[in-house]
Amino acid sequence: MIKYKELRLENVSQDEKVLIQHAINSASKAYAPYSNFRVGAAVRLQNGTIIEGNNQENAAYPSGLCAERVALFFANASFPDIPVKEIAVTVLDKFGNVSEDVITPCGSCRQVIAETEIRFSNDIKIILASKDKVLMFNSIKDLLPFHFVLKK
Ligand code: THU
Repeated sequence: MIKYKELRLENVSQDEKVLIQHAINSASKAYAPYSNFRVGAAVRLQNGTIIEGNNQENAAYPSGLCAERVALFFANASFPDIPVKEIAVTVLDKFGNVSEDVITPCGSCRQVIAETEIRFSNDIKIILASKDKVLMFNSIKDLLPFHFVLKK
């Protein structure tokens, strides 16, 4: 049973609205000339810092990276001691408006979110926002059960 909450955008908290707005702003700066699928992510750290990321594509397709990982890797590279509290993700439609549908993170991004939870021993709230609907997960464990763990 997948645990999540579905809310109307107007019913999310002010802090979450701010984070979603950062994700939207970031999506508008995505480099996605091949897919024209512009994704934005915004990460809030435990100290309140907000970091944005968007998808960065490449003519050699696998060389690109998703918005979630751009944001999380930058956050973890810049603030290696500060836990990640939450991440908001959104996508624009071809007219540049926030999509009617939520985007759910790909498997690789889920694995990176899982690693970040483990790294800081801190659950990460995942906020998937469309034009007027928001899905919220309290932890990546609800989106990626049985994720890979390296046994030492
Ligand atoms: N993409 C993301 O940025 N995040 C996801 O969770 C799924 C897909 C990007 C990768 C690629 O640039 C484009 O969306 C189409 O797959």
